[in-house]
Amino acid sequence: MNTILLLLAALNVITVNPQVEVGPAAEDLWGIFFEDIDLSLDGGIYAEKIRNPSFEQYEQNSWTQGLPLQYWHPIGKPEMQVKAADKKDVAAPSPKSMLVTCRPGEGVWNEGYFGIGVEEGKRYNLSFALRFAGPLGDRSLPVGGDYQAPRMKVAFDRFGGSSIGEVEIPLIADDKWHEYKATLTATATDPQARISFIVQCQPSTLTFNLDTVSLFPAETYGKYGLFRKDLMEKLAALKPKFVRFPGGCWVEGDTMKEAYRWKNTLGSRWSRKSQHNLWEYWSTNCIGFYEYLLLCEELGAKPLFCINTGMSHKENVPLEKMDEFVQDALDVIEFCNGDANTTWGAKRAELGHPEPFNLEYLQIGNENKGRAYEERYPLIADAVKAKYPEIKLIACRFNYDLKCRPVEIEDDHFYKDVGWFFDNADFFDKGKRRNENKVFVGEYATQKRIGRWGDLRGALGEASFMIGMERNPDKVKLAAYAPLFANYEHSNWTPNLIYVTPNESFASPSWNVQKLFAENAGDTVVECKVEAEPRTITADAMTTKDGEVIIKVVNMTTKEQPLNIVGVDFSPRRVTKIIFGGTEDGAAHNTFANPDALKEVEVEVEVENGGTISDTLPPNSFVIYKSRSK
Ligand code: AHR
Repeated sequence: MNTILLLLAALNVITVNPQVEVGPAAEDLWGIFFEDIDLSLDGGIYAEKIRNPSFEQYEQNSWTQGLPLQYWHPIGKPEMQVKAADKKDVAAPSPKSMLVTCRPGEGVWNEGYFGIGVEEGKRYNLSFALRFAGPLGDRSLPVGGDYQAPRMKVAFDRFGGSSIGEVEIPLIADDKWHEYKATLTATATDPQARISFIVQCQPSTLTFNLDTVSLFPAETYGKYGLFRKDLMEKLAALKPKFVRFPGGCWVEGDTMKEAYRWKNTLGSRWSRKSQHNLWEYWSTNCIGFYEYLLLCEELGAKPLFCINTGMSHKENVPLEKMDEFVQDALDVIEFCNGDANTTWGAKRAELGHPEPFNLEYLQIGNENKGRAYEERYPLIADAVKAKYPEIKLIACRFNYDLKCRPVEIEDDHFYKDVGWFFDNADFFDKGKRRNENKVFVGEYATQKRIGRWGDLRGALGEASFMIGMERNPDKVKLAAYAPLFANYEHSNWTPNLIYVTPNESFASPSWNVQKLFAENAGDTVVECKVEAEPRTITADAMTTKDGEVIIKVVNMTTKEQPLNIVGVDFSPRRVTKIIFGGTEDGAAHNTFANPDALKEVEVEVEVENGGTISDTLPPNSFVIYKSRSK
């Protein structure tokens, strides 16, 4: 028996040779991919709680099924309709508003993104614009008698009506637009509260236009006040080196009308045109291209913009009309990097950011391929390279190798089952790929049989694959898990890294794995040989400038694995071990109720006489050994 155990132990040997350098770590390897998918932006990271805040989401088509007004509802029997602003109404805060006629005690409510989501004791900043349109606006006021000045009661209501926080705002009774601001404090927690606007005035019928209704938590992340704190904290914990945005399929759209065009997303946030999103909702574009850049800045990450290349899922732009798309690419670089004397740099400065954003990476298209891509890619690529040779271009590799131009970096996507990831930890070592181009693994995630929320085995599959990426720094330059967020009530894609309700969120075990890689990235990849049965363990090793040795190991099996680490003389050092997973239950996962069901632990490791480590890897585990000089 002992002999068998000894033999097994001998099988799992990791030999690390810090003196043999594979190469410097890819400097921007671990990033994130932010797509406007499954309400990740509106109803996700954008902290705005009002849905359809400036009534621009009024598009009658097959998808809206002719609904006149979305996400707003009556209290009592008011008349409610969306109105385009009169051309003479130059003070109108946005192109459309809601015209409401109601009696005292009646009003409207907004449903938010599946609830307004408030938390006891927290403050929320409200603002809205209103003008009376008659009959009150037509009268000269005050009129005496039992007349009371009009007021708007704004409240957080529980389902069924009881108020959990309210404020009364006196209104100015004339026919000019006025902006009102107030702070509401929630007296209870309710993820599904609604926000109601009830008019109080005696004894009149009121007609007014309501516009630009906004509710933000008083506490947001960072300096721009745009982003939801809990979600940004989860992203910041990943220490992303770059943010690829805004898609994904959202960049392409099903048709060119739905394709992402960055210039359409600038200007006043209230006036931006909503756009049908192929992930089955309307995007407000309130987080437009500029705000995406602010998001990158808040995270200290490089922007990696994926631009439409004149191709959508169902149609392509004729070649003779491609000039506009080429110009978009040149202009976006000027917008990001040009100084304030350039046309687009000046527009950026006007928006409040005279300093450039230093765009370094531009991806031409998402999952495009074939003849149409061969025809369009060089139009954009050549124009960009001629004017901005320093920009690093990324081409799609979507089951297709681009032939028309040498590829600088190719974007490859991997949505596979756990077994595939375990079997392909060596994918980027020699021999398995179709070419030797530099790679951006722009989207990857384990799929199938990993439950609704992603599970431990799935995360370990990704960890194995990530080890394979990390130990090939000359080939794999960038990588990002996908997708990042899904609203709990609108999840068209499974799994996602982080799940969101109006006031809660939790991350899948894949998030822990992403975080651990980012936190434990070394500076140099060094030689690391693994002797083990296939599909048992995989590993890599790195050193840091401070002389630290970092060894990452995945135990892909559901059993404990004995392990010997040799080659590094650990004896004069202190060794710590971070363990993630370590349970026989590969289906273990996090939930809203138990967001930290799976969490890494850190312990000290015994170093043997002779400086080696003899250890046991727990079942289903990702383990990181870190040595520090004493
Ligand atoms: O990540 C979800 C989708 O998967 C992306 O939009 C697309 O690029 C890929 O097919």
